[in-house]
Amino acid sequence: MSQVKSFPTSAKVLHWLSAVLIISMLFVGVSMIQSLATWHKTALQLHQSFGIVVLLLVVVRLLNRLFIQTPALPSDLSAMQHFAAKATQVLMYLLMIALPISGWLMRNAAGLPVNVFGAFELPIVISQSLTAYGFLREAHGIIAWSLFAVIVLHISAALQHGLIRQDSVLPSMLFKFRSRK
Ligand code: HEM
Repeated sequence: MSQVKSFPTSAKVLHWLSAVLIISMLFVGVSMIQSLATWHKTALQLHQSFGIVVLLLVVVRLLNRLFIQTPALPSDLSAMQHFAAKATQVLMYLLMIALPISGWLMRNAAGLPVNVFGAFELPIVISQSLTAYGFLREAHGIIAWSLFAVIVLHISAALQHGLIRQDSVLPSMLFKFRSRK
């Protein structure tokens, strides 16, 4: 069993950076599809670019996990709660990877490249196809809403640990700030 009480700073920074980016991207995505106003083009450009940043962050997070020690869950949790916590984690990683990749493939199926911050384009990985575009557009929306649902579950569980059980789970992902003397 792990001896550490808290996640290392690298894992906390990656966690909170991904959280802010993903939640903002969910809102940008939903606003984007409601409007064809002039800001739509800029929003889409930023949406693609930050989506690729999210993909990179997930890869870095997974690599980081190989080298860090993570705190164990409280021993008084039931086997079912342990399973639910692990299953939610795995599901979140899968969705965080599938979402940007489906966006990337969707752009290619529409015959367009993914442009990252106007600086470079990602390789085209599938050829243009209206059928594939329709499928991937639908899949991107379903994955995004599924991720949103899992994030709501994840936040509810974190709050239950922090406010009701008041155990070590929530503080293990928070930054500790020392007060000045
Ligand atoms: C963390 C990553 C991402 C999140 C959270 C996200 C979220 C969303 C959401 C919520 C929608 C609206 C879906 C709906 O309700 O039907 C959307 C649409 C869209 N996303 Fe993403 N997305 C991400 C990454 C990407 C990437 C990497 C690309 C392209 C490279 C992309 C391209 C698009 C496009 C083209 C649309 C449709 C826009 C429109 O029809 O106006 N997304 N996204």
